[in-house]
Amino acid sequence: MGLEWIQPADRLGALPPYVFARLDELKLKARQQGLDLIDLGMGNPDGSAPRPVIEAAIAAFEEPSYHGYPPFEGTAVFRQAITRWYQRRYNVSLDPEGEALPLLGSKEGLTHLALAYVNPGDVVLVPSPAYPAHFRGPAIAGANIYPLILKREKGWLIDLSEIPSDIARQAKVLYFNYPSNPTAAIAPRSFFEEVVAFAREYQILLVHDLCYAELAFDGYQPTSLLEIPGAKEIGVEFHTLSKTYNMAGWRVGFVVGNRHIIQGLRTLKTNLDYGVFSVLQKAAEVALSLPDSYIASVCDRYRQRRDFLIQGLNELGWQLTPTQATMYLWVPVPLGMSSTDFALKLLQETGIVVTPGNAFGEGGEGYVRISLIADCDRLGEALKRMAQANIRFDSLSHSLTPSSHD
Ligand SMILES: Cc1ncc(COP(=O)(O)O)c(C=O)c1O
Repeated sequence: MGLEWIQPADRLGALPPYVFARLDELKLKARQQGLDLIDLGMGNPDGSAPRPVIEAAIAAFEEPSYHGYPPFEGTAVFRQAITRWYQRRYNVSLDPEGEALPLLGSKEGLTHLALAYVNPGDVVLVPSPAYPAHFRGPAIAGANIYPLILKREKGWLIDLSEIPSDIARQAKVLYFNYPSNPTAAIAPRSFFEEVVAFAREYQILLVHDLCYAELAFDGYQPTSLLEIPGAKEIGVEFHTLSKTYNMAGWRVGFVVGNRHIIQGLRTLKTNLDYGVFSVLQKAAEVALSLPDSYIASVCDRYRQRRDFLIQGLNELGWQLTPTQATMYLWVPVPLGMSSTDFALKLLQETGIVVTPGNAFGEGGEGYVRISLIADCDRLGEALKRMAQANIRFDSLSHSLTPSSHD
């Protein structure tokens, strides 16, 4: 060993342990005990990237110039594919020169944005629960994070009226994300209009994460922040190829919106990385141009899983209503149990892996997130194991049914 006396920098010490890393340890232990795990923990889509994307990547490998360092700001053709995608899907016009920047996945950009714009002590507004990069990025930057606790009875929407005006005046950045990970909540256009008006009044940078731009069901179409008049003056929006296109391992995402903010992020990144491998930018360009029929088939797959699992969980006593977007179910745990206790009980008694809600911040306590990343056969097996282990939910007393305590 050695060097234990060299302490990590304070910014690392300030971070709570990454729950997914802890879950990995527990999963490893369970596997070593011979359990057949059904892993519904991470938002890691099953299956491979679309065939035309794979073929584009293979063809791009043959191009010698793609093997060198890519341009810092991304290839012009990929930036144009991004702005074309925004035009087609959201009728939003963007300049590929300066209003779009490819990223090594959106997590990278969301985190680095905080390093580019947040000084130690700056107030950053972050919903709780939230996707961890929304608070971990600012935490690494030394932000004074003001959590906006979301509530089920408010549809998991941020209640701007609850933010004290002195906090709003001090705040520099607001992160938010609809359709939401982990709650699967969606926000009406009027909500986006309120957020833009709020940010303009208090001069706050809006950082919207549109990760689930295409994963929507039953006719629902997510809203882009940039559809709202004036949003580009105070905001940026992140998107990723990880979810819709099953490309989580490829690490391709992008940010669009305010030119000045994107320039700052780019300046930071030119000191940290060389951007996305040109071969992958070429393939990502093809992904963004896939016909709507591809998106429809992806949504159909998740919708079937959603319906199947919701019906099965409701037969076990939950009272879940259909989600309209994302690849998650946000499920209350029985009264008297913490999110972590329930997730551990599930893992130990059934081999099912879910994410405890507190991984997404204090506002996630009392819930677990289930990712729809297995086919209906496997989800059926999960439901069977839950029934066998008597893991049920009594909606009336909000507790496990008495027999489950046997
Ligand atoms: C809301 C949200 N943003 C960003 C990401 C990360 O995406 P990427 O793979 O592009 O880093 C995720 C992944 O789960 C997410 O749920």
